[in-house]
Amino acid sequence: MVGAPLNKTSLPSANGTRTTTTLSSNSVLALNTGDPTVFEPFWQKMGDKCDVLIRGSDLMSYYSDKNNVCWFLEPELGDAIKRLHGVVGNAVTDDRHIVLGTGSTQLFQALLYALTAPAASEPDEPVSVVSSAPYYSLYPEMIEILHSGLYKWAGDAYTFNEDGGPYIEVVNSPNNPDGTHREAVVNGDKGKVIYDFAYYWPQYTAITSAADHDIMLFTLSKCTGHAGSRIGWALVKDKDIAEKMTDYIAISSIGVSKESQVRAVKVIGVLCDGCENDGLVESENFFEFSRNLMAKRWQKLREALKHSECFTLSKHPRQHCLFTGEFTKTLPAFAWLKSKEGIEDCNEFLRGLKIAGRGGKAFGVDPIFARVSMLSREDEFNQFIERLVVATKGISNGH
Ligand SMILES: Cc1ncc(COP(=O)(O)O)c(C=O)c1O
Repeated sequence: MVGAPLNKTSLPSANGTRTTTTLSSNSVLALNTGDPTVFEPFWQKMGDKCDVLIRGSDLMSYYSDKNNVCWFLEPELGDAIKRLHGVVGNAVTDDRHIVLGTGSTQLFQALLYALTAPAASEPDEPVSVVSSAPYYSLYPEMIEILHSGLYKWAGDAYTFNEDGGPYIEVVNSPNNPDGTHREAVVNGDKGKVIYDFAYYWPQYTAITSAADHDIMLFTLSKCTGHAGSRIGWALVKDKDIAEKMTDYIAISSIGVSKESQVRAVKVIGVLCDGCENDGLVESENFFEFSRNLMAKRWQKLREALKHSECFTLSKHPRQHCLFTGEFTKTLPAFAWLKSKEGIEDCNEFLRGLKIAGRGGKAFGVDPIFARVSMLSREDEFNQFIERLVVATKGISNGH
């Protein structure tokens, strides 16, 4: 579950800005979800550049382009998505269908349907869906919620007993929760692979090649930070799969909000202009700005845990990034903490510090691990660091 915010002092107002900005030392830090509010300062800097005007008579139809497989995708958004991938260089868009979803969450469910719906009316055995642990905790939740006869969650891809039958493997790279770079591990003849590239953007990782797989998922949520717009897209080679996904979304929500699409076109356009226009100051290049933010946060976190007797963090590689032209560090969206000897439940320990994370079990691994978001607002992040430092000092003082 994404879960409700735990910290009532930070509830957003109707226009999405904070009603209060102070966190008391007693409040629980809700870092259990990856709500990407860290990027708000960039878009605040953009002032009115991303404003959109939508008149009462605009965008009233269900349809956007009846000639397109994904008939509810506004053509301008399709163009903006292609431009974005062209600017970043993280995915091939040629000879692909773009299927739009209400977040990539809906597209994942559309794919489960599209890849398992039988041609005949009688379903076969449910198709196993696997992902290497630690895996994104929502995969099993989304698969199990309906007790579907079409597919079933079969857990960790590393331990999956592939028997020559059909299966689906989900590859999330860089991976939520641990930021590692992933490839498919089962490699059976009848397997279909869904590549979830939610975090394959330059603020989190080096862009090492343009991904060129049959089925790839992306989301605006983790790219620009506009999670509230609920825009995700799939790049799909096979027309039949793209059509089935479109059918699923038509039945589930008859398309995707046109207002959200218009906003996404604007935001992506401003982002691409900022990246392409060398004359602009550094702070107008979203990926430079957001990489710097993430780098500062990771530096603070590593510093805070340097002498910690409670937690360890794994190291992440430095790779050559085709987007920046430099060797860059992986800067994951989540801290994947491992508790040291004597602390059996990392998440419980964090709870004692009034930090709400998500425990290892939800990701298919031991409770000595826990995930904490690195994408919160600045004051929450600073509190997180302060509490880690206090915990470290407390233990070294024998408290
Ligand atoms: C790995 C991964 N995939 C998909 C999503 C879903 O993103 P959205 O539904 O906001 O597009 C998330 C969100 O946290 C994620 O971490």
